[in-house]
Amino acid sequence: MNALILSLVLGADPSVAAPAVAPVDPVAVKARAALGPFKKSLKEALTTAMAKSPEAAVDVCSRDAPALAARHSSAEVTLGRSAFKLRNPKNAPADWVKGAMEALAKEKSGSEASKVVPLEGGRVGYAEAIWVGAPCLVCHGEAVAPGLDAKLKAAYPQDAARGFKLGDFRGVFWAELKTK
Ligand code: HEC
Repeated sequence: MNALILSLVLGADPSVAAPAVAPVDPVAVKARAALGPFKKSLKEALTTAMAKSPEAAVDVCSRDAPALAARHSSAEVTLGRSAFKLRNPKNAPADWVKGAMEALAKEKSGSEASKVVPLEGGRVGYAEAIWVGAPCLVCHGEAVAPGLDAKLKAAYPQDAARGFKLGDFRGVFWAELKTK
């Protein structure tokens, strides 16, 4: 469970001293609830495919990642991933996502940093930082195995999502919510 939500749950129990947490934006709570199942299913698909081979996992990322983002989106919430250094140009950030990423990239590596951004038309944006973990380096690191390298180059001729190091800022999960 998310540490922030956990502390909220604990805080709701009068027998437990309320921990000192910053007030939580209800938009962030809603966005995290929407992103949770998307992140979980993406992680499961990637982990299962990686157990077969990284080449198989590339197919999962290119086919399933956008499909899962679409499937977990609704009339009220649109979900996605973005980054400065993109593998798929279709994941290019909207202006508000870019602004949020500029702020989030300065946060402590590994932190659960997030931003809520008010938007026009009764909408609101939420973005949370993604940090590079060890399994990510196989496909986004400095040394990519030759067979995998060829497969990635064929699928993503403009791939800029390479050369990352452990703990680097990779990008964001984002959500756009309708509030009206
Ligand atoms: C098997 C190879 C592979 C692994 C391992 C992998 N990725 Fe990716 N990643 C991809 C591919 C392929 C895409 C393009 C997906 C698409 O077309 O939307 C991608 C896209 C992304 C994007 C979307 C932005 C962009 O560049 O298009 C993010 C963010 C991302 N990966 C983060 C991670 C993180 C964090 C990890 C480790 C937990 C990870 N990836 C592990 C292959 C991989």
